Amino acid sequence: MDQYIRVSKPNAEKLKRIISEKDRLNRKLPVRHSGNYVYLPLLNIDKERIKNLLGRFDARIVRMKKGEIPEKTKFADRLKGIVGDVRGGFAGRYDLLGDIAIMEIPPELSPKEGEIAGALMDSDPKIRTVLAKGGPVSGTYRIRKVRYVGGRKNFIAEYRENGCLFRFDVRKTFFSVRLSYERTRISSLVGRREKVMVMFAGVGPFAIVIAKAHKDSDVVAIEANADACKAMVGNIAANKVQNVSAVLGDVRVRYKEYKNFADRVVMPLPMSAGSFLTEALYVAKDKAVVHLYRFCRADGGTEEVIREIKEHARGHGYAISKITTRVVRPYSPKEIEIVVDYTIRKGGKRG
Ligand SMILES: C[S@@+](CC[C@H](N)C(=O)[O-])C[C@H]1O[C@@H](n2cnc3c(N)ncnc32)[C@H](O)[C@@H]1O
Repeated sequence: MDQYIRVSKPNAEKLKRIISEKDRLNRKLPVRHSGNYVYLPLLNIDKERIKNLLGRFDARIVRMKKGEIPEKTKFADRLKGIVGDVRGGFAGRYDLLGDIAIMEIPPELSPKEGEIAGALMDSDPKIRTVLAKGGPVSGTYRIRKVRYVGGRKNFIAEYRENGCLFRFDVRKTFFSVRLSYERTRISSLVGRREKVMVMFAGVGPFAIVIAKAHKDSDVVAIEANADACKAMVGNIAANKVQNVSAVLGDVRVRYKEYKNFADRVVMPLPMSAGSFLTEALYVAKDKAVVHLYRFCRADGGTEEVIREIKEHARGHGYAISKITTRVVRPYSPKEIEIVVDYTIRKGGKRG
């Protein structure tokens, strides 16, 4: 077994110089590189004697056989070393948007956030930027404040999903990787030559995933946030989809242009989509499918949402059938996000 000091790339040159000066660098072995680490081969040395040096450079001694590939460090192991006792409920979870990782760092750990970011980037060379969530998603545009923590100072994500590329500014637009399955699922339900209305379209993920998979579909995507809509236009071009029209504006105003348009209406605004049911009926054909996203109580909330949908439809002369629900994700300790899929039929009797 040979002995190496494992040190992160930015610290490697300086530490190598110090070790050479102390005549402890084993010149018979090559310096090795893996991920964001450099491995400096050592002559036999008492670990206690270089303890301070290791601490100063956040380095550690590892042993490897000849030819062994240095193991990538696990973020969870590094995290334990960094946050120690104050770790509490912090598991170091993050969302990855291309090469940008967005973490929720509790305030008591903010003095260590630079170190946490360094460890995360070391553990996964794909990650080049670490941002911290600066609060909840809020406001009409459903935007979250983010704070730069480490790596390359970049806020423009380039994220791939379902064979599509999405480019957007994480400070100015909403995007959730957690809806990826929903986009695949809804797209798989789309039939031949469907006309699809995506309300609250954001930077275009539902619309573009559907349009790319169904070249014969005709998709209209309405979005109120000008930054998100501009990003959507860019994403439509980047994904070479010709069957999506990005519409900038408020659904409450723009829906009027699409009377009886849609075979399918997608409503991914869980905070308030329930107050757009009349607009959904207006843009829908006499028979259509609706996908309504809603936040509701985990305990009994789904039934309430279904009741609301049925009452609203009946009041407007529609019947509802084929109702299915799915929990998209937990939202808060007592709330969940659900999606209700249902078919509406003008003048129908069922439901
Ligand atoms: C929860 S996000 C969903 C975005 C996108 N569909 C996705 O899955 O990433 C809701 C989006 O609806 C937009 N929005 C909110 N109210 C709106 C309205 N009345 N008319 C049009 N867009 C609206 C917000 O700006 C935001 O981009």
